[in-house]
This record gives sequence, C-alpha cells and structure tokens, in this order.
Amino acid sequence: MDKLNFARLALAFLLGLAAAPAVLAQAAAPGGAVPQMTEDKLQELRKDAGSFEKMYRTGRKVADFCSHCHGQSGQSTKTDVPNLAGQNTGYALAQLQKFTDGKRINSFCGPLMKKLSSDEKLAVAIYYTNQEVTSRPATDPAMASRGKAVYEKNCFKCHGTGGYGDEKYARIAGQQPEYLMTSIRRYKEGSAARSDEKMMKQTRSLTEDDMKALVMYIGSLK
Ligand code: HEC
Ligand code: HEC
Repeated sequence: MDKLNFARLALAFLLGLAAAPAVLAQAAAPGGAVPQMTEDKLQELRKDAGSFEKMYRTGRKVADFCSHCHGQSGQSTKTDVPNLAGQNTGYALAQLQKFTDGKRINSFCGPLMKKLSSDEKLAVAIYYTNQEVTSRPATDPAMASRGKAVYEKNCFKCHGTGGYGDEKYARIAGQQPEYLMTSIRRYKEGSAARSDEKMMKQTRSLTEDDMKALVMYIGSLK
C-alpha cells in the first residue's frame, strides 16, 4: 500500500469515518470559499464557551493525525510544513476549503481534506489556531532589517505591522522559513499549485534577495 492510501485509511479509522460516512449536506458555496453554514457556526460557537470547548476537544482528536506533520500543538517541526498555531481561524478554514475544492493543490492535503466533514474541519481549525506559536530570532540581523524595509512598504497593509493578519488574511509572523519561501515564490510565479491575484501583484517585483530578506524578517516576528 502506498503512503497516501495508508494515510487515508488511518485517518478514516481514527475519525470513525469508515463506519459512519461524514454527513455533509451543505449549502453550495463558490470554490474555495468557506461555506456560510460553517462561518455562521463559528460565530455561534464564539458566543458559547461550552460548545466551543467541546469543538476544541474534537479538534484535538482530529489533530492527532495532522500532528505527524503540523505538530500536536500546531508548531511544525519541519521547515517546509506550515505552523498552524496562532493562525487565524477564518483563514485556516478557507485554506482547508481550498484544498477540498482543488483551488489549492497538494497531493497529500487535497485527498485528506475531502475526508473530513465540515464539522471536523471547523473543529481542527479551532483547535490548532488557538495554540501558541513560537518564533525564532533572525540569524542574520542585516538581512532581517532589509526584509523589514520591504515588509513595511507593502506587506503590512494586509498582513498587519506585526504579521498577524486577521480573519481573512494569513498570520505570517513566525512562520516556517522554507514554507514561506515556497509560498512567496509560488505567488510570484503564478503556480498552479497555489495562486492568488492579490499576492501575485505584491510579489511580482520582488528580487531573490528581497524574498530571502522577507523570509528572515517574517520568520523572526513574534
Ligand atoms: C504529510 C504531512 C501533513 C499532514 C499529515 C497534514 N498536513 Fe497540512 N500541510 C502539509 C503541508 C506540506 C502543507 C503546505 C502545502 C502547500 O502549500 O503545498 C500543509 C498545509 C496545511 C494548511 C494551510 C496552512 C497555511 O498557512 O496556509 C492547513 C490549514 C493544514 N495543512 C491543515 C492540516 C490538517 C487539519 C491536517 C489533519 C487533518 C493536516 N494538515 C495534515 C502537510 C501535512
Ligand atoms: C492586498 C493584500 C495583501 C498584501 C499587501 C500582501 N498579501 Fe500576502 N496574502 C494575501 C492573501 C489574500 C493571501 C492568501 C491567498 C491564498 O489564499 O492563497 C496571502 C497569503 C500570503 C502568504 C501565505 C501564508 C500562508 O500561511 O500560507 C504569505 C507567505 C504572504 N501572503 C506574504 C506576503 C508578503 C511577503 C507580502 C509583501 C511583499 C504580502 N504577503 C502582501 C494578501 C496580501
């Protein structure tokens, strides 16, 4: 059995999906957009501490599987795998939906996300994004200060001065360096795996050195 099939089976087993197929009567939403039902539910949960806590615990269970790559606390141990800790819940949900709808392509995450019900996606997003992220100090302060200058010219407009983003925009502060580099490069090149019009515009004129400097700076933000 190849790795991916094994992973699918293991996940189905973990979540009990093999016995009970996920029930998923959802309102249609445009590809990549978080279904309104899920957004509404997130808003409701935020007003009800008890239900939120229950969802969080379900999310922790789902995360047992994801933790092989993203870490149990959402702090990835691999520099090419994104941290999910401290990420914005709305943004994380939107990305899970993009993987599900094929708007963002990853041979592992795509098939995986299709196996999760909308509640499981919501639960795991709530769990992971409510963990604390740790950053690493810049190893090259001169490069980081160049990165800061580039960042403060443009990037802060959507990702915020501290790199925290908001419900719609990714938190990028403290993100894993290799993952940051791959992501920025993909936007710049309009990659089929992941593209975004706004980000393409922002990255178009970045040089290789700008990108390295940005990664050094953003990764060191706390
Ligand atoms: C085999 C390793 C692996 C496993 C297991 C895994 N992921 Fe991922 N995940 C990745 C990688 C690698 C990426 C980056 C993909 C890319 O950009 O091409 C990613 C990306 C993501 C993103 C987007 C993050 C961002 O900043 O945009 C989310 C959200 C996510 N994964 C959630 C999950 C959840 C939830 C699970 C468990 C159900 C999971 N992943 C399991 C490796 C994994
Ligand atoms: C006009 C708003 C805007 C500006 C300005 C902007 N971004 Fe983004 N950024 C976005 C959006 C929207 C996304 C999510 C796109 C998607 O879904 O793939 C994103 C995603 C990202 C990601 C991927 C995050 C993740 O977790 O996978 C990185 C890294 C990033 N931006 C870096 C930058 C950098 C560096 C700059 C400055 C050069 C910048 N952004 C400027 C809107 C913006």
